Amino acid sequence: MKRQITVLTGAGTSAESGIRTFRDADGLWEDHRVEDVATPSAWHRNPHLVLEFYNQRRKQMMEALPNAGHLALKALEEQFDVRIITQNVDDLHERAGSTNVLHLHGELRKTRSTGPSNNVYKLDGWQLNWGDNCPQGHQLRPHIVWFGEDVVEMDNAIRIVMQSNMVIIVGTSMQVYPANGLIRYTPEHVPVWVIDPNANELHSQRNATVLKEKAGLALPRLVHDLLQGAVEV
Ligand code: OAD
Repeated sequence: MKRQITVLTGAGTSAESGIRTFRDADGLWEDHRVEDVATPSAWHRNPHLVLEFYNQRRKQMMEALPNAGHLALKALEEQFDVRIITQNVDDLHERAGSTNVLHLHGELRKTRSTGPSNNVYKLDGWQLNWGDNCPQGHQLRPHIVWFGEDVVEMDNAIRIVMQSNMVIIVGTSMQVYPANGLIRYTPEHVPVWVIDPNANELHSQRNATVLKEKAGLALPRLVHDLLQGAVEV
């Protein structure tokens, strides 16, 4: 049986594909305050702004390409059972070919009914508009976990982390609850690696080996070493 490597990824993993991170710049997210676009109250106040904001995110995602970091994680599947748990809402892991990706914070490629069913649907193209309804006639919203909403995949993510033989954390500031607590479920003696050019004390939990480098550089090298057996799992 293949050894399991769990990879927790955040916005920094997609930065080299041209998708901006959340907390690196000025506290604004593509010129919007997060409360104006990524909360249930924003949706009730101004659904048109929220829909347009995510339409632009979706368009940008479709124009972006997976980078060397995403591709390295696909290559790692040759020898390991790779489980990606991502906070990212883009589909760059999937487009790189990774087969096992859990999206903690939802997916831009999907929509969800605001009716009682809460059913999730695939979205073709980049636009979701006011008046786009589910088959039962309820408005569709982006399938994104907004601030203040439950992270329903959290229990599945915890289970995955608990089964790991190695954990790699890439490109997340570890500031957003509850995703930042996942690391605590790593079994004792399981090695933890961190890749983040701005790694700080939040990243040094569990005696992690910290590489203060960009994902597009450090991930391919670490994956190479893992495939060659130069780093043991
Ligand atoms: P952040 O923007 O908080 O953190 C991005 C991290 O990536 C920082 O620690 C950067 O130092 C690092 N970084 C930047 N460029 C990098 C590179 N080339 N290679 C590796 N690391 C790099 O993003 P997240 O931690 O992912 O939620 O944010 C978590 C959640 O907050 C997001 O999922 C989002 C947001 O609110 C939702 O959309 C629901």
